[in-house]
Amino acid sequence: MGVEVTTKHLTKSFGSNNIWTDVSLTLPKGEVSVLLGPSGTGKSVFLKSLIGLLRPEEGEIIIDGTDILRCSSSELYEIRKMFGVLFQDGALFGSMNLYDNTAFPLREHTKKKESEIRQITMEKLEMVGLIGAEDKLPGEISGGMRKRAGLARALVMDPQIMLVDEPDSGLDPVRTTYTSQLLMDINAQIDCTTLIVSHNINIARTVPDNMGMLFLKHLVMMGPREVLLTSDEPVVKQFLSGSMIGPIGMSEEKDQGQLEAEAARFAAGQSDGGVAVPDEIAPQMQPTPGMPPRKGEQRRKARVREILPSLPEKAQEAIRRDLGDDPEPATVGASAGGSALAGAATDQHAQRPNRLAESAEPATSEVPVQRPTDFGGNDEPTGTYEIGQDATDQLPRYRD
Ligand SMILES: Nc1ncnc2c1ncn2[C@@H]1O[C@H](COP(=O)(O)OP(=O)(O)OP(=O)(O)O)[C@@H](O)[C@H]1O
Ligand SMILES: [Mg+2]
Repeated sequence: MGVEVTTKHLTKSFGSNNIWTDVSLTLPKGEVSVLLGPSGTGKSVFLKSLIGLLRPEEGEIIIDGTDILRCSSSELYEIRKMFGVLFQDGALFGSMNLYDNTAFPLREHTKKKESEIRQITMEKLEMVGLIGAEDKLPGEISGGMRKRAGLARALVMDPQIMLVDEPDSGLDPVRTTYTSQLLMDINAQIDCTTLIVSHNINIARTVPDNMGMLFLKHLVMMGPREVLLTSDEPVVKQFLSGSMIGPIGMSEEKDQGQLEAEAARFAAGQSDGGVAVPDEIAPQMQPTPGMPPRKGEQRRKARVREILPSLPEKAQEAIRRDLGDDPEPATVGASAGGSALAGAATDQHAQRPNRLAESAEPATSEVPVQRPTDFGGNDEPTGTYEIGQDATDQLPRYRD
């Protein structure tokens, strides 16, 4: 079961270069949170700070009641074992096959016998759909498989906190969705407090329970997903639509002159490059059928009910619909999650359709796909990959 992670007034600089200041947030136990932010805003630095790889100069990082900036090195060592981390670049050892990569933390940090290590390693490789690929080297597999191998390695120590840096980097939109599904399924199975760092809009719209955003060295907002998804804050709106209009510029904040010039340009009807933020919030991605319900999601319901009055009006409406407290039926898009949530607690999970399973064609088609080299600069194999989801499948298959 996951533990709560809280930061208070956290400030991090490298020399005179301040990365962010006064970051205070809570990752509720067992819930899935996403930290958004344009490139270079210090998302990865934040993630590395949480595990004690980087040291903020001010503030507190409280993990399960212990401030890791003030604890002893032996306490920090123990706390680090609570984390599973998928780094932005996967961080697999290039010369080790997937089995040895996955087994590495067990060999390094435990005294388990090889037979036990084998059992745990194979179990985790199975969880991420990599059985059969144990002997492959990281350079011989696709980006999606490398992500899953990184996740298997993050899982072997039974993490209570899962940190995931850019799960979508180098992946196409479909593989990104499968990776998100895998993260939801892992969360359902082990109830780990999860933080996903990303700038992917689809992940932001469908995955998290909570969402925050870093911009201009500050945490702009943090709260239930509905708060950001219905926000009128210009920087949040711009980010979630991918538009050029707004305070986020190519490399830094725009000045007033730039903002006025762009307003004139786009008023003339030119595309702003973005996609309108839909009025209705998409239903949240659910664990694959056959998985246990997410305990974090259940706990979140009670939590958001309590803080509801303190949230902006639009967020309150969206949450009430999701909780089933709204007497008005929601739109078609929102009702899949909303109406089911109004049902009896015991059936809630079963009643909520899985969006992936629903939308996928029942038949499995095989098409040749040439994959580009995504990251790591490897020569990617060309092969035949399955697309779609077999309707008879009860257990998840994370294909690549
Ligand atoms: N070890 C370090 N020493 C000095 N500066 C660093 C170090 N690590 C990161 N930085 C700086 O901190 C800033 C934030 O970097 P970070 O990698 O956290 O951004 P990010 O939000 O993760 O970006 P992206 O979305 O591109 O991954 C950058 O300007 C980077 O150069
Ligand atoms: Mg980063």
